[in-house]
Amino acid sequence: MKGIVLAGGRATRLRPLTLVTSKQLLPVYDRPMIYYPINTLKKSGITDILIIIAPDYSGQFLNLLGSGEELGVNLNYAVQKEPKGLADAFIIGQHFIGNDSVTMILGDNIFDPDFSADISNFSTGAQIFAKKVSDPNRFGVVEFDQDMTAISIEEKPTVAKSDYAVVGLYTYDNRVVNYAKNLTPSARGEIEITDINNLYLKNKELKVNLIDTYWQDAGTLDSLLEAGNYMAKKI
Ligand code: DAU
Repeated sequence: MKGIVLAGGRATRLRPLTLVTSKQLLPVYDRPMIYYPINTLKKSGITDILIIIAPDYSGQFLNLLGSGEELGVNLNYAVQKEPKGLADAFIIGQHFIGNDSVTMILGDNIFDPDFSADISNFSTGAQIFAKKVSDPNRFGVVEFDQDMTAISIEEKPTVAKSDYAVVGLYTYDNRVVNYAKNLTPSARGEIEITDINNLYLKNKELKVNLIDTYWQDAGTLDSLLEAGNYMAKKI
């Protein structure tokens, strides 16, 4: 199992904090944000990791993280020139992924749970993780049956079909690379992870795992502050 941390994008919502650096390098209490997703992958047993970064601040990531040895992981880097969408990670990462399965985590998603059992039990198809929230419309929204197989998934719908937000951690078998290459950009001009998930869903191969412990998408000023406060109390 290979790991990808998607840490590109422009982070316009966090300006001026992100005028001279990347969102994923901003502090979440006592460490740069990107330490958290790297650590989530490491705790899940994934140590071969590709970090995907935007061109402007790529040197800062290298200076901070280097080979990954100090964090106990093996880091590789790739630059995403333009934020073309979350699914672009599997095209950029295709040589790194090789013939393996892959788990992608979003560089601004802060988790507490331990995913090691779900990751080591994964064999084929796709698995996503979902959490019950009060504001599902802000996220990908998934509906699932009694066997925890997804039956619908929509990106930021106006009317949500469930209260379950799709969080930023996804595991796919090797077909994901070809699925990503064949996607058509959406109305907002991105190749969407939701379209990849829908391809697995059509084959009844999209499993949903629920999380009931801490998760935060730290991509706004308020959620960034909340994540920092949570970590400050936890330590
Ligand atoms: O946080 C969970 C949500 O993340 C999911 O519920 C949604 O289904 C999923 O689409 C995503 O929604 P966001 O609106 O949070 O995605 P955002 O565009 O903010 O991108 C997430 C991270 O990925 C962010 O740290 C920037 C990075 N990114 C994004 C894009 C589009 C890239 O590195 N490259 C990209 O091309």
